Amino acid sequence: MLRRLHHEQPESFEFTPANLEWAQGQVTKYPVGRQASAIIPLLWRAQEQEGWLSRPAIEYVADMLDMPYIRALEVATFYFMFQLQPVGSVAHIQICGTTSCMICGAEDLMKVCKEKIAPHPFELSQDGKFSWEEVECLGACANAPMAQIGKDYYEDLSEESLAKLIDEMAAGKTPRPGSQIGRFASEPASGLSSLTDVPGEKTPFNGSVQRAVEIGDTLKRIDGTEVPLRMPWQMSGQAGPIGVMGAGQRPMSAVQQAAAQKAAAPKPAKGKPADKTGVTVQEAQAVSKGVPASKAEPAAASRPKALKAARKGGADDLKMIKGVGPKLEKLLNSLGFFHFDQVAAWTAAELAWVDENLEGFKGRASRDDWVAQAKLLAGGGETAFSAKAKKDGIYDA
Ligand code: FES
Repeated sequence: MLRRLHHEQPESFEFTPANLEWAQGQVTKYPVGRQASAIIPLLWRAQEQEGWLSRPAIEYVADMLDMPYIRALEVATFYFMFQLQPVGSVAHIQICGTTSCMICGAEDLMKVCKEKIAPHPFELSQDGKFSWEEVECLGACANAPMAQIGKDYYEDLSEESLAKLIDEMAAGKTPRPGSQIGRFASEPASGLSSLTDVPGEKTPFNGSVQRAVEIGDTLKRIDGTEVPLRMPWQMSGQAGPIGVMGAGQRPMSAVQQAAAQKAAAPKPAKGKPADKTGVTVQEAQAVSKGVPASKAEPAAASRPKALKAARKGGADDLKMIKGVGPKLEKLLNSLGFFHFDQVAAWTAAELAWVDENLEGFKGRASRDDWVAQAKLLAGGGETAFSAKAKKDGIYDA
């Protein structure tokens, strides 16, 4: 909307002594040099004093705050709560015409304004007491349709209630702002559907506190003993992640489900190789946990094939692998590992050997899954870590 200063302006403006004292008090809220922060309350006070914001009023406030006039003018013309032309002496009614209010009857409200005040926005009523305009959303959408009059909101309006408000104001009365259908705030118009207890009546505490006390859940953390939350498929008895639940069977908690999945996973028999390396899972686990080979199942770790030096073309930057910093890169090189494809080819047993021989960093190779990272890098790809390391030049320790 184009907002300009009115073509007719008064000669001058001055705060009344009481308003001046109030305005000076507002300015003291802000640090020295930041007095301009008081611009909005001061312009609003000037508008309340005069009914609208004239150019002399804007310039008077700018002088008070040591601001260029154009800065004060920018504020006054930006916010449509500031009226730049004379408006109704009793009330200027700002009807919200944005989506919620429009759907809920804003057009009917504007029809009332046209009939009772004037056919066009900003046109004064014949007695000069009222004017109206349509404005954008005023943030009270849950109580649509609504109107702002002065600094008050009148909500849940209807043609009848707005017409009554205008009549009351014209008769010198001060109608009560807020919801006009008796809502306390923005609760559902059909009444509360939750938190319906009157405090202390049925239960001694409010909703969430009461529930926590009832089920003894305060300070308690998830430990697998809690009443399980039901998934939709558990409610209907359909097949879920674990299968079909039998009639009368209690649904499993997430912890129970995880345990069941682990238990159901196929396991190689003790002593049987888990992969083509010929190393049993038990062996690899024992070695990576630092259990001496003698105490573990048959010897697990085996040294990966090493090189005496990097191939022609130089070593790969192993620091591109998450978990390998300058120190570890040096150590890996000293062990005969210079290239991504070497790391990518480690078997479980070889990984276990490397983990064991990373002095000061034992277990890091499997912790950060170097093999998977190296496979990507060897194929010319990037991991999220390598991309970031290249960009920022920051590696792991
Ligand atoms: S749409 Fe009217 S207050 Fe938001």
